[in-house]
Amino acid sequence: MLIKSKRGWELPDSQATPESLFRIRRSLIKTAAAGPLLAVPALTLPIAACAEEEREADPSAGLYPVPRNETYTVARDMTPEKYATSYNNFYEFGSHKNIVKAAQKLPLRPWTVTIDGMVEKPFTIGIDELLAKMPLEERVYRHRCVEAWAMTVPWSGFALKALVELARPSSGAKYLMMQTFKDAAVAPGQKQVWYPWPYTEGLTLAEATNELAFIATGIYGKPIPKQNGAPLRLAVPWKYGFKSVKSIVRFSFTDKRPTTFWETFGPREYGFWANVNPDVDHPRWSQAKERLLGSDEKVPTRIYNGYGEFVTDLYAGPGMRGQKLFM
Ligand code: MTE
Repeated sequence: MLIKSKRGWELPDSQATPESLFRIRRSLIKTAAAGPLLAVPALTLPIAACAEEEREADPSAGLYPVPRNETYTVARDMTPEKYATSYNNFYEFGSHKNIVKAAQKLPLRPWTVTIDGMVEKPFTIGIDELLAKMPLEERVYRHRCVEAWAMTVPWSGFALKALVELARPSSGAKYLMMQTFKDAAVAPGQKQVWYPWPYTEGLTLAEATNELAFIATGIYGKPIPKQNGAPLRLAVPWKYGFKSVKSIVRFSFTDKRPTTFWETFGPREYGFWANVNPDVDHPRWSQAKERLLGSDEKVPTRIYNGYGEFVTDLYAGPGMRGQKLFM
């Protein structure tokens, strides 16, 4: 579906008032009833208000901050926390960016994670037990949304590889499927029946065990807030942001490529691989540049979001021929 809108950075300053943005957003929300908003390049919205007292204390708060792994520090300014934690995509709570308040309904405990499929022995584990088993560290990563906005944030968490090792997949397993919770009473967006809930994502096992693949459980030296995907979400910085599934409850190992949320919804626009590439446009907009959250500066996008040295080899084999690696 074609949604025409002026991009946030194209608005003259005189129009960029909260009221005009509010009106634009309302009209986009109406349009979204017939199709995906992910497809609309981001508008600069006012910072969402959500008083501290409305936020539930996170039981894992004592674990943070954790030591930074300097291997992954990037040469770019950090995005101020208030932008990264108030301008979010989390369709379970609304198909717009201002979901902070709605997301506070997400209960943090009990939270269990099921590990199943092609593993030695399927099991379910509570988030606090999982956190106690995992080697926590901080990594500063870039994040590039398919909508052409970007941020640089310090995630805390653990290498996805550590979770794969805990799971002990069988030799036939080739993919890892990851799923968000499903509970429309908590997440009203899940009443929108045209979306294929629960939000599902997948990686090849080679991608999942690449050193960059990270499970974020914290951000800015604190537990990850609900709007950013508490209590655990994926961070795969060489791919478009929609791969980084939030609030995961299931990791399932399989020998079949999982069908993902956006691929199911819009197969002509969103694929399985979704590697960042400035030379491969989205069918409806250029991917050559990205707008930095906070400053709104537009900067050139880089192949694999600047992480080519870590991941190019993943896509070099003959099996990759003909794959749409960049959508
Ligand atoms: N995970 C779930 N469950 N639901 C979503 O709507 N949106 C994705 C990704 N993970 C999404 C999700 C998209 S499009 C992006 S860009 C990032 O989350 C945004 O993460 P952030 O809000 O922490 O910046």
